[in-house]
Amino acid sequence: MTRILILSGSLRTGSFNTALARAAQSTVPEGTQVTVATLHGVPLYDGDLEAREGIPAAVLALKEQVLAADGLLLSTPEYNNGVPGVFKNGIDWLSRADLKAVFHGRPVGLMGASPGGFGTVLSQAAWLTTLKSLGTSVYSGGGLLVSRAPTVFDAQGQLTDERTRQMLTEFMAGFTTFVRQQSS
Ligand code: FNR
Repeated sequence: MTRILILSGSLRTGSFNTALARAAQSTVPEGTQVTVATLHGVPLYDGDLEAREGIPAAVLALKEQVLAADGLLLSTPEYNNGVPGVFKNGIDWLSRADLKAVFHGRPVGLMGASPGGFGTVLSQAAWLTTLKSLGTSVYSGGGLLVSRAPTVFDAQGQLTDERTRQMLTEFMAGFTTFVRQQSS
């Protein structure tokens, strides 16, 4: 069994990026288990809080989920042509929880959805610097940029566009193969 954790970088109930992560659960090859996580409950990084109380419970729980998975996939929104602060904050906390165990050598992929026409291309590019510095093994075999998101998901967050589902299926197959190769 190959286990993939998809972390959505949006807290919004109607998030396209969380919807994309959920849609991915039904597109993976056999023998693959996909879990979706969000950053709810993770406080803003504060060195004083860390010194006083240690790593917050929500971060420790997330860390355990990452450690239990073979691969980590970030479903990232794009804010102002960059990485959303909420998402970067979550990854920063995780690096404080256990940089080596959580990130070093871990297979990590990127995907994202946006109502705009460029499908998070700039936030995905911006993530690369951070993922490199964390020592992750970044999947570069293919990308997934979902643009015009309101036209591919319905009001309930179901992926209704066949072409996007096909792209997601191919992306997940490629990422799963990469994770398996990295884990063997
Ligand atoms: C955005 N949005 C946005 N979209 C984009 O494609 N490029 C961008 O640079 C930005 N910038 C931006 C800044 C801020 C502060 C907000 C709140 C939004 C729109 C964004 O893609 C949209 O809100 C998505 O719906 C966010 O992802 P979720 O929450 O649907 O997963």
